[in-house]
Formats: sequence, structure tokens, C-alpha cells
Amino acid sequence: MHVVLLAAQSLDGRITKRGLAGDAFTSAADKAHFRATLRECDACVMGAATYEENKERLRPDRLPGLRRVVRTRNPETRAAETVAGVLEFSSETPTEIVARLRADGRQRCALLGGGQTNGEFLKAGLIDEVCVTVESWIFQSGTPLSSDVGVEVALELLEARVLAAGGPVLLRYAVKK
Ligand SMILES: NC(=O)c1ccc[n+]([C@@H]2O[C@H](COP(=O)([O-])OP(=O)(O)OC[C@H]3O[C@@H](n4cnc5c(N)ncnc54)[C@H](OP(=O)(O)O)[C@@H]3O)[C@@H](O)[C@H]2O)c1
Repeated sequence: MHVVLLAAQSLDGRITKRGLAGDAFTSAADKAHFRATLRECDACVMGAATYEENKERLRPDRLPGLRRVVRTRNPETRAAETVAGVLEFSSETPTEIVARLRADGRQRCALLGGGQTNGEFLKAGLIDEVCVTVESWIFQSGTPLSSDVGVEVALELLEARVLAAGGPVLLRYAVKK
């Protein structure tokens, strides 16, 4: 299973803008790119904080073929929200989640963040591709693309594409293993 970290960030690597939701600063072009990329995936993983802010657009009746796994330390408190095969809450490690999705035959998994979750997956060496839209902002504060988990990850650029006039730039990298 191919795991793609999918995110939008400011030029200085922030995926949130001071206290606002993660997509508050993203361009229409990035939102379209996000939707198109997610349609190509049959699984996605995110942290509970990201899920809380994106519940509506990740509603189980949208893209029902997309298996969603939300990482939380307290999955038992989310039992009522669970939809078998479509939306689940898990306290497993990233390695366990990826192994389970792979065993379920999933081919392409989007890692949707946020920073804590991205950090844990990077640390575990589970990410194959990083697909980041750089929006034309400098924020100086906000959630970083990855929390500091003490690893350095070497990348190889696969694609650089301007998504719209004025600048959202899509950067796609393979993770060197
Ligand atoms: N611009 C973008 O592309 C983008 C993308 C994604 C997210 N975002 C934004 O980023 C922000 C969230 O990022 P974040 O880094 O604060 O949080 P996050 O990674 O989305 O989620 C953190 C949560 O994951 C759970 N978690 C953490 N460690 C765990 C562990 N060892 N085992 C099980 N569960 C664990 C905890 O949930 P519990 O508290 O339930 O235990 C924790 O609160 C949001 O504002 C979101 O909108 C932006």
C-alpha cells in the first residue's frame, strides 16, 4: 500500500493559520486538488484533531469506498460515531494501522495530518510520498507540517506545478528509503 502525506502549508511550513481551521487559508485550486487526490485513495488516516475540524467533508456518505481511520487515545468514547468499514477510531500505532489496511487490500492511503500524526508516521518510516501545496503566505506561527520527532527525512522531488496564478505550488516528493 502506497502512503501519501497530503497537506497544504504556508511558505514557512505551517498547516494552520493562528487559531483557524486547517483549510482556512487554502486556495480553491488546492481544495480541488485535495478532493481529486482523495478520490484516488481507498483509505485515509488522520489524527482526532484533524477529524474534528473536517467531520463534515469526511462524512461517511461521501466517498463511501474510502476507509477512514482516526487516531485517538480513547477510541471507546467514539463507538457511536463508528461506521463499519468506513469510519473507525483507533489507538493502534501507525505501523499497526498501515499493516491492517494493507491486509485489507487497500492500495493507496492518504495521510491527512495533522502535525502530530504526520510526525509519528514519518518517525515510523511509513510514508512513501509527500504531496504538499505551498500557499503564498508566511505565518510565523501555527501547527507545523510535522511535529518534531527527531528524524530527518530525505526526499526526491517528483513534480513541481503551479496550481493557480499567484502561486499555490504543488510539490510532490518520493521519500528516500
Ligand atoms: N493545512 C493542512 O493541510 C492540514 C492538514 C491536516 C490538519 N490540519 C490542521 O492541523 C490541526 C491539527 O493538527 P495536530 O497536530 O494538532 O493534531 P492531529 O495530528 O490532527 O491529531 C492529534 C490527536 O491525535 C491523537 N493522538 C496523538 N498521539 C496519539 C497516540 N500515540 N495514539 C493515539 N492517538 C494519538 C490524539 O487524539 P485524542 O486527543 O482524541 O487522544 C491527539 O489529540 C488542525 O487545526 C487541522 O485542521 C491542517
